[in-house]
Amino acid sequence: MKVLIVGGGAREHAIAWKLLQDDPTLDLIAAPGNPGIATLARCVAIPADDIVALLALARAEQPDLTVVGPEAPLDAGIADAFHAEGLPLFGPTRAAARIETSKRFAKELMLRAGVPTARASHHTSVDTALRAAHAIGAPVVIKASGLAAGKGVIIAETMAEAERAITEMLQTGAFGDAGKEILVEEFMSGEEISVFAVCDGQHSRLMIGAQDHKRLEDGDMGPNTGGMGAYAPVSLDTASLQALVKVTIIDRVLAAMRDDHSPFSGLLYAGLMLTATGVKVVEFNCRFGDPETQALLPLMSSSLLQPMLTVARGESLVDTPEFEWHAGFSVTTVLAAAGYPGRVRKGDPISFPEPEDGVYVFHAGTRVADRMKAQRSDEPPVVTDGGRVLSVTAVAPTLHAASNHSRRYAERIRFAGKQMRRDIAWRELAREMQLSDHRTNA
Ligand code: AMP
Ligand code: GLY
Repeated sequence: MKVLIVGGGAREHAIAWKLLQDDPTLDLIAAPGNPGIATLARCVAIPADDIVALLALARAEQPDLTVVGPEAPLDAGIADAFHAEGLPLFGPTRAAARIETSKRFAKELMLRAGVPTARASHHTSVDTALRAAHAIGAPVVIKASGLAAGKGVIIAETMAEAERAITEMLQTGAFGDAGKEILVEEFMSGEEISVFAVCDGQHSRLMIGAQDHKRLEDGDMGPNTGGMGAYAPVSLDTASLQALVKVTIIDRVLAAMRDDHSPFSGLLYAGLMLTATGVKVVEFNCRFGDPETQALLPLMSSSLLQPMLTVARGESLVDTPEFEWHAGFSVTTVLAAAGYPGRVRKGDPISFPEPEDGVYVFHAGTRVADRMKAQRSDEPPVVTDGGRVLSVTAVAPTLHAASNHSRRYAERIRFAGKQMRRDIAWRELAREMQLSDHRTNA
């Protein structure tokens, strides 16, 4: 069987690794891939958002399945283009991808479907947006409606900050087209978890929850990033929470989108907040999360390939069993380049020690050093080539061990300007500590 993976990050590396676990005989192609993925797949130098070139590749290769990692190709209509030619692809149509690409669309859908979420209003005029922000009062959340690479959300602690964010987005055009329309939203507080569901338009199969770490520095300080680490499972993600998420969130979204004649098939990512008044949706994404995927897939014991094939072929998940998971814990530490999340420096050589058992290294912003390519070394050294460079996942019987192994191996990887957090899973470790204190005191 032949599978084409679109993308070249650590998420796609983890997906490639997992699909090969499911079927070691797979013929894998990746576009564009990266040096890590190249150890598992044939990499073809086509950018992930070049739909015309990807379609030409798929016509020539006739993959049994195409899996799309990032949102950009989905927003550009890759699913529509592939489906039109009968090429099985796992991912939503352009219209269904609006659940991520338009925050206004997602919010209106949630309100219509009765999905719990923060109240919000949408605006193109500074005056009405300011009025809405004043009506809510600080803190208030100002969001660009369109895709803004995770940067279009301002949590305004004061009204002055809210006013600045509104005028910057609507008047100055700080986020370009993505910020031409904004949402003014109620602030929620609580812990966040990400829950992924494989969906066929009608049925869903949920994965266990994972927790992302969006801030650059330890203790959730510093600027927001694409994600500096993740772990799973999360003890807050109980069986009853999973059931609630399935019924009141995922299945309601699927039903509403079916009613709108734009069914969602592919991976629905629910970004959830566990507030004092119950679980609420912060955002949806129309694809696997990064770095949550790198933490989740090494824990998955059942097949990911089978449900993806089912969905891509347009078949029903009704007879597909629930996902199964290995016992134990998974912790992913992201290594980022100098300058991230701002302007990043590229080209720093990376040295990798041999990873121990239960440690997985997934490549993201890496490339083979040109200088060494000429020497035709068997294991050419790689250099940094992007913001998030590598993901290091460790799986172990306890969370403590998984976090230690992930951090220790990440510490041993060397490149100039390396940035990493050393506290991934700290909330869960603190919860475990509290529990054991309770037991000792009881
Ligand atoms: P989003 O791009 O919608 O995922 O937002 C990025 C981050 O902003 C989320 O992961 C939350 O931490 C935060 N955020 C978004 N909306 C809210 C909200 N209404 N209340 C509190 N925090 C929020
Ligand atoms: N981990 C956040 C995202 O993938 O959007």
